[in-house]
Amino acid sequence: MRRIVIPGTDIRTSPIGMGCASLGSRISPAQGRRMLEAAFEQGVTWYDVAPSYGAGRAEDILAPFVAAHRDSLFICSKAGLVPPKNNGLMRLAYDLGRPLVSVARGLSRRFRAIKATRNRRVALSSDFLEASIAASLKRLRIDHLDVFALHDPDPADLERDDVLRALERIVARGQAHHISMAGSLDAALPAAAKPIFTFFQLADDPDNRQLPVLRAALARPAGLVTHSVLGVGGARYRMINRLKTRPDLVAEAEAGGYRSRPEEIATALLMRRAFAVNPDGVVLSSMFSAGHLADNIRHAAEPPDATAALLAERILSAP
Ligand SMILES: NC(=O)c1ccc[n+]([C@@H]2O[C@H](COP(=O)([O-])OP(=O)(O)OC[C@H]3O[C@@H](n4cnc5c(N)ncnc54)[C@H](OP(=O)(O)O)[C@@H]3O)[C@@H](O)[C@H]2O)c1
Repeated sequence: MRRIVIPGTDIRTSPIGMGCASLGSRISPAQGRRMLEAAFEQGVTWYDVAPSYGAGRAEDILAPFVAAHRDSLFICSKAGLVPPKNNGLMRLAYDLGRPLVSVARGLSRRFRAIKATRNRRVALSSDFLEASIAASLKRLRIDHLDVFALHDPDPADLERDDVLRALERIVARGQAHHISMAGSLDAALPAAAKPIFTFFQLADDPDNRQLPVLRAALARPAGLVTHSVLGVGGARYRMINRLKTRPDLVAEAEAGGYRSRPEEIATALLMRRAFAVNPDGVVLSSMFSAGHLADNIRHAAEPPDATAALLAERILSAP
């Protein structure tokens, strides 16, 4: 596995990170633990979690894996979103539906469509932040997070003195080594002006291309962590459809060395685009199936290739 050094830090990690949003909900604890170990064996050292992930179970499930490999891992957890009120029912539905993969996928989709089943945003306060990181450390059974992120914060909260002071105290106490904003570009931009934020986590799918805007606003080195590579708005499916109906685009991809089925070309181009546009940051991916893990590891291992990004964007923007 290739390694990157995060700008402004001495963190040396894999360029790909394991996203644990589905660990304990769509993904069972047993499958999750197996794939966490498989990812680690293949060189993945960055793990992204949050109190709300996996219907509130992801941090607990991650804990034994973290205990086994703590010194080799970088862990980011967050504060700001908590599981929905009727979480117990959701857990039960996931546990019952999981044996049938298509049922679990359908459940995920349906759950997300119902407001009462969405994670709730909590009003930030210094007490909440202090309690949230203490609870995360307890669930993860560790004494510090490498990165503590505000999870989908309201941009106005990034200007609040009490919030910024609480984050400073958390770092001074050693509970977190770095502070991140994990949310929208609207929240990343005010955070970019605050030195306490040394990491930024945001979607960078080929449709919204948020990273260059953030980079232009950041006048200092920082850790950039991206997700939603395969597209919040379904970039992968759009690319597959384009390739199926435009032989000229397939020919272009083949000329660039991408010779495969449209599904595989689309994944390869989007993953390689993600590493190319964030060459010294971490690209997060959910990869709890062996095939997805193998694919993504292969793409992460290649040196970043700017031509892949151009090709991916050209195919997606083709009429
Ligand atoms: N605000 C935030 O901070 C925020 C927001 C969104 C996401 N995140 C983080 O980013 C992580 C990743 O989220 P994402 O939205 O970017 O999800 P993603 O990695 O795009 O995964 C979405 C789906 O794509 C599948 N997949 C992965 N690799 C694939 C491949 N090579 N070919 C085909 N399908 C593939 C995954 O399957 P399997 O998992 O079943 O293998 C999953 O079902 C989350 O887990 C979370 O840690 C953070």
